[in-house]
Order: sequence, then structure tokens, then C-alpha cells
Amino acid sequence: MTAIALLRGKRIILGVCGSIAAYKALDLASKLTQAGALVDVVMTDAAQRFVSPLSFQAVSGRPVYTDMWRADSAGALPSHIAHVGLAEGADLLMIAPATANTIAKLAHGLADDMLSVTALASRSPLLIAPAMDGGMGEHPATRANLKTLQQRGARVIEPETGRLASGLLGAGRLPETATLMGHIRRTLGAGGALAGHKLVVTAGGTREALDPVRFISNRSSGKQGTAIAQAAVDAGADVVLITAARLPPPIGAAEIRVDAAEAMKAAVLNHVDESSALIMAAAVADYRPRAVSAQKIKKSGEALTLPLERTADILQAVKARRQETGYPKIVVGFAAESENLLENASRKLKSKGLDLLIANDISDADAGFAVDTNRALALDKDGGVHKIDLTSKAAIGEIIIGRVGALLA
Ligand code: CTP
Repeated sequence: MTAIALLRGKRIILGVCGSIAAYKALDLASKLTQAGALVDVVMTDAAQRFVSPLSFQAVSGRPVYTDMWRADSAGALPSHIAHVGLAEGADLLMIAPATANTIAKLAHGLADDMLSVTALASRSPLLIAPAMDGGMGEHPATRANLKTLQQRGARVIEPETGRLASGLLGAGRLPETATLMGHIRRTLGAGGALAGHKLVVTAGGTREALDPVRFISNRSSGKQGTAIAQAAVDAGADVVLITAARLPPPIGAAEIRVDAAEAMKAAVLNHVDESSALIMAAAVADYRPRAVSAQKIKKSGEALTLPLERTADILQAVKARRQETGYPKIVVGFAAESENLLENASRKLKSKGLDLLIANDISDADAGFAVDTNRALALDKDGGVHKIDLTSKAAIGEIIIGRVGALLA
């Protein structure tokens, strides 16, 4: 986990309740801290029966709050107003795992321990991740309490279905850290620099079918496009991710799964009207088999020759659409090159009518396809060329979204 610009310096109160899932909150506290957030953990008495406050202190590097009657070990806040001080400066109150008992207390405004008193004093966004066993989550009392909290603006992260501690199968599991992080990012990003802007992002390598079992594709994993979509959600945009990748989409992005170039083109043209920007990070096939066999192609003693035909260039179709409608306002393309990077990229920038082009040299082992890092040149239409040194695809996503924001401003 690397730094996440959105989380840098953000104050997050992580409320932990007594559930077997409390151990998963340790990983969440750790990942949030690594991402740059300041995590103040507040534990209920029951939570401390499952995990020790010391464990949370070790991963967050900050005091852990357990008792509203006792001064914290750092003595930073006088005990009787600790909850007010904590609540006041926070950007988010996240309760994970949230038990039926704490949910009931919050719904009714009870304040008899450090977590419930902090929640009552807090005016920051509230995210609740319930985790419970044995049908407690489906009980009308719990459903009604969650509904009350939602009506007051809280966001509830639905528990996952699977094996519960009792051995029962059902809904009640705390989602994985990555999912919880996604919800936190969506909540903190709301109202960001791109709020009110629709961004369409494409990702992954398209697949062109040969027959019912085979296809032609390329090495693109979709990691860069998915990272761009995440950065756009972080900036508060309404994101449509049109993807041929097999990766979980960012929480908060509308995902449209496509396979072939033709389907990606149709989806892009369907969504670019009224959009602020299109970012074409997908590696779109340039050729497809001229005919798709309805049955599996059987081998024979002969060599197999496959006639291929050109696919449509999606960015050319977007260029034509933009001349008619003015949308998308900004178009960003990518260029994957194995030689003459700058020369080939400059030509693509002009011929495809782009505002910004991100060019990768795919001959580098640590950049381009399938790896988590990338380095690139960013070319703008006024002739500017900026080098982006080797960094994570997540960081490149943030840089690209920052530049799109600047172009839209
Ligand atoms: N692209 C597209 N439609 C295609 C092929 C590519 O819209 N049929 C887009 C890609 O998403 C990328 C940009 O065009 O943003 C450049 O893709 P790239 O494969 O580098 O360039 P090509 O135009 O395909 O040129 P070549 O393969 O000859 O390098």
C-alpha cells in the first residue's frame, strides 16, 4: 500500500466494536495509516475482548481511546472532553465492525461509552460497516436502526455473505480492507475538485473472439485505467469505467464490462455526451478475426491462416462526435510504444485530436503492461512535454486526474 493523496493528513476516527471481525479492523487501521491518514482508534469494552488496544496503537502510531473516564496515555486531551476534541477535528467517523448494540445506541442517541459519546459529538460523515452473526443484521430492530442512521445521512456498507463465526452461512461478514478503503475514499472524495463532472475512463485489453473458446488480446492488465478511475472518484467525479479488465472496479464508479473493441466503442459513444473528460487508457485491439466461428475450430494437419480485419479507432469516432456536440470537453489518450516514443506519441496526439497524451515505453520491464509501476511522458496539445518518473500506477492516476482538473478549471 502506498500513499494516497486524498488520505494524506486526513483525520479518521475508527470506531471498533466487539465482533470476531475486530481483527480485520487492525488491517484497516494499518492501511489507512500507510496511506497517510491520522487514525484515532476508539474501542468499545467488547472490542477489547477480541483485540488489544496495544495492537491498534502499534499500527496507527497514535493513542487508542477506550475509556471516557480516563485520560489517554499521551495526556493530549483532558479525559472529560476527549470525545469533543476527537470529534471536532475529524474528517470521517468510520465504525468497523459495527455491532447491533452500537448501531442501536447511535440510532437512539445513547452516549454511555467513549465510542457512542464521540459519535454523538461528531458532525463529520459517518460510515458504518455492520458485522454480525446469527441473523442479528436481518432483525427488524437492527434494520430499523440502520435505516434511522441512513436517514440522518450515515452511509452503511452492506456486510458480505459467507461463512460466519457460528458456522452459519449468511450475510454478516465485514468486507475486506480494500472494499472498506474504497468506501472511505468515495466518502472523503465527495465534494472534491471534480465534483459535478462526469468522467469516462476506459481500461484493459480488448478481446476479439475467434470461436466460442478463443480470443486475440494483448498484455494490458487494466491496472493503469482502473487507477485513473479511482483517482477520479477520489476527486469527487461521477465516474463511468468502461473496462475489459478482470479487476474489481473502484467503489463509487459505474462499471461497464466489455470484451471486444466494437463493444467498447459503442459504450464510449453512449457515455461521452455531457462528459467533462474521456480518458482512453484501454489497449484497444487494432485487428479482429474477419469471421467468428460459431463452433470451436478443430485442429487439422494444415497450417492455420486467420484473416484479420481492422477494428474502428475509438478516438477517431470520439473526435467526430466532439466536433458535433462539444463533448467530451477534454480527451486524454495513451500511446504504448516500443521505439521512437516522443515522435510516435506527438503524431498520435495530433491525429487523434487529443488534449493530453500519456506515452509509455513498453520495452521497460518496470513500466507499462501488467506491473504496478509506470513511467511516462505527458504531452499536451500546446507542445509541452513533461516527464513522469518511475512511480506507482496509483500515483500516475492522481497526476493525470490533477492535469485533467487543471484543464477543466
Ligand atoms: N485507440 C482507440 N481505438 C483503437 C486503438 C487505439 O481509441 N482501435 C486508442 C487507445 O486507447 C489509446 C490511443 O488510441 O488511447 C493510442 O493507442 P495505441 O495502440 O498506442 O495506438 P494506435 O492508434 O493503435 O497506433 P499503433 O498501434 O499503430 O501504434
